[in-house]
Amino acid sequence: MSQVPQMQERTVELIVAEREELADDVVGLVLEEPSGGDLPDWNPGAHIDLILTDSLVRQYSLCSSPLDRRRWKVGVLLDPNGRGGSKHVHHELHRGCRIQVRGPRNHFPFQRANRYQFIAGGIGITPMLPMIEAAEADGADWHLLYGGRQRSSMAFVDELSKYGERVTIWPLNEQGMPDLASVLGSPRDDTLVYCCGPEGLLSAVEQFCQSWPKYALHIERFAAKPDAHTPSEEALDNFQVVCQRSGITVDVGPGESILAAIKAKGVSMLASCMEGICGTCEVAVLEGSPDHRDSVLDDDEKAENDCMMICVSRSLSEKLVLDI
Ligand code: FES
Repeated sequence: MSQVPQMQERTVELIVAEREELADDVVGLVLEEPSGGDLPDWNPGAHIDLILTDSLVRQYSLCSSPLDRRRWKVGVLLDPNGRGGSKHVHHELHRGCRIQVRGPRNHFPFQRANRYQFIAGGIGITPMLPMIEAAEADGADWHLLYGGRQRSSMAFVDELSKYGERVTIWPLNEQGMPDLASVLGSPRDDTLVYCCGPEGLLSAVEQFCQSWPKYALHIERFAAKPDAHTPSEEALDNFQVVCQRSGITVDVGPGESILAAIKAKGVSMLASCMEGICGTCEVAVLEGSPDHRDSVLDDDEKAENDCMMICVSRSLSEKLVLDI
């Protein structure tokens, strides 16, 4: 499923054309080209990088319509215990500010189906909105379960009310934990399940969907899986990386990332999250076996061994040849 090589991504300077409070601690930003021109094309599930400072880059799902080429919208939840990205957005990005934006990139692609079950927790609602628009336009049968701490913390509830009974709003403080068994029911081969939200919700849905067809479940994470960075038993402490296009070979030592090792040798690479969740640093693998430690690729994609995230993943073979 390897994406387009990351070095082809564009960075554009956009202006914050609108800013609004969408819910408790959730702000919505509408971004436009300063000249009013078209923005790059995208599909439901895509996210963009907001380059907040030289050292602060954060990913946010696009929640506007892909049909609107003039505006991108993101919703940002303030995380008081985070590493500073959401605080910067909430406190520094006002209407009229200019911001560098990279992407869009899509590791949560929306696939066509007759039926969908969307499950969103909190700010995980954002990538669902363009997916719902596409499902509705296709005349698909769909349902959304949208959970949140409390009603006032849930963005886009009014906007979703137009869909009537297709949408179930589930404030946890009023209704407790949702019953996934009644939402998902028995495994179906005509249904795709799309889920985005906090780890507890994702793990529960993953667990529940184990009996579903492998292709059914699609998940997007905000943070690395709890066990994602655990090395496999065969992982090597020392290995070599051949950067095929650059003509450089790099030794990677214990505790060092491939990304850091090749950057130290002057190979230029884009990267954002450094946690294996955004997909920015994805590269094609031409030879060798990666030790995948990211939370972007699913098990089948990891088994294909044709791409890897070099901010966290390492190697099972003494040599990796990468398309860099
Ligand atoms: S920089 Fe985000 S996956 Fe590597």
